[in-house]
Amino acid sequence: MKKKTLTHLFTWLFCLGSATAFSQTGTITISNNSNTTINKNIYGQFAEHLGHGIYGGFWVDKSLPVKKQDRIRLDVVEALKKIKIPNLRWPGGCFADEYHWRDGIGPKAQRPRMVNTNWGGVTEDNSFGTHEFLELCSLLKCEPYVAGNVGSGTVEEMSKWIEYLNSNSTSTVVQERAKNGHPEPYKVTFWGVGNESWGCGGNMTPEFYADQFKRYASFAKDYPGARLKKIASGPNSDDYNWTEVCMKNIPQYMMYGLSLHYYTIPTGQWGKKGSATSFSESEYFNTMVNCLKMEELVTKHSAIMDKYDPEKKVALIVDEWGVWTDPEPGTNPGFLFQQNSLRDALIAGTTLNIFNNHSDRVKMAALAQTINVLQSLILTDKEKIVLTPTYHVFDMYKVHQDAKYLPIKLDVPDYEVDGKKIAAVNASASQDAAGKIHISLVNLDIHHPITITTALQDIKWSAVSGQVLTSANVTNINTFADPNKIHLSNFTGAKKDGDKLVVTLPAKSIVTLELN
Ligand code: AHR
Repeated sequence: MKKKTLTHLFTWLFCLGSATAFSQTGTITISNNSNTTINKNIYGQFAEHLGHGIYGGFWVDKSLPVKKQDRIRLDVVEALKKIKIPNLRWPGGCFADEYHWRDGIGPKAQRPRMVNTNWGGVTEDNSFGTHEFLELCSLLKCEPYVAGNVGSGTVEEMSKWIEYLNSNSTSTVVQERAKNGHPEPYKVTFWGVGNESWGCGGNMTPEFYADQFKRYASFAKDYPGARLKKIASGPNSDDYNWTEVCMKNIPQYMMYGLSLHYYTIPTGQWGKKGSATSFSESEYFNTMVNCLKMEELVTKHSAIMDKYDPEKKVALIVDEWGVWTDPEPGTNPGFLFQQNSLRDALIAGTTLNIFNNHSDRVKMAALAQTINVLQSLILTDKEKIVLTPTYHVFDMYKVHQDAKYLPIKLDVPDYEVDGKKIAAVNASASQDAAGKIHISLVNLDIHHPITITTALQDIKWSAVSGQVLTSANVTNINTFADPNKIHLSNFTGAKKDGDKLVVTLPAKSIVTLELN
């Protein structure tokens, strides 16, 4: 009898706990008071000569039975055009600082071969070079962002590459471009001066790099219709001193932006990063803690930049971000091939919300690395193709590109695991040119739906619709055998209640709402 009473007591306490948990609520306030635009370039991508990103990803064998232009795979191009990728960064990454552009022009049979020392020691045949990259960008209708070689290249080499790309004067190098099939200048404007110069790009000190930047940038010339937007190789993660020195030592007129690289490592340890598909709730939670560190990084680097540049003329450009896990078992570890789960989608939604909310300073970013490498939008295996959960997030969020940023305040419940807490919900909002409001919300809690009541200040609306991305487990993935396991669905969990918007976010979900 005593035992029965105790059992009842436990059952009751459990139900009370669950009831409290299941009735989680929060509030969000969105205001119309801003004159900041969310730069579309925040939704940029990165493609390095690494594993099957370029070779076997964008650029495939002539014999592969898929639609192609030259050797560029067109189903990949169509998928990326649908989500409106605004820019593509190339050729690296670490590869950029050992890439010599002359190796990648002219007749393919005569192009030199090199060893890709950073990524798997494979032979690089240079069949994908400058013209092929720019053809890809033109098919994608996106802006090229070229990372120039500072680590092992000369000032002259970089200067001549820019002349080759952008000049319309009479010079030998311009004639060479015409001979190689492109008489018109390409007008490339986004220009990276090195990559990770604190590491694989030359192991420099910030003082030395700032001096190098000034040298290289001085000879990186503007040509008609192609004023260069020069991007300095910025800090690694929380190296605030790097930002301080670059902002102090490089004149602002020389620098369009300063880059920041930060990867979410599930375990937080580079040696054993954690699996892409098999992880506990505890590891999922820690991954999200590491993902949310982006908020702190962007805030603190921006604060340093504000000291030197209060008018925010220099952009913070997060041109490498995403989750970096252990490679898929059985694949070449130097190829960085990893699967992509619902967890990746939650990371993408959260990170893009952070960038949107810092759009006064963050003007550009690049997910690493688009296809078959790290946190990809697309995975391919010979002719097979699958769109990842991360792809669907970029699809949902494309409505924020070049829209007016709407400031947002959140008062939301915590998600607690192992006695540690994070905010369960994050969000961002914007208003597009047609006046439509878009709100993107992420519920990181894998157990509990959360009901959010939203007050919209000075914003008139009458109808709400939306899309949602979720799945039964955070470890779920899209595979070649089951490519639509995680897909976008219409969202019916939002309604108008008086002048308030009430939304019930499913557990572990990403929702984008449209208010008309
Ligand atoms: O994205 C993979 C590598 O990560 C890049 O080549 C490098 O810039 C960074 O360390």
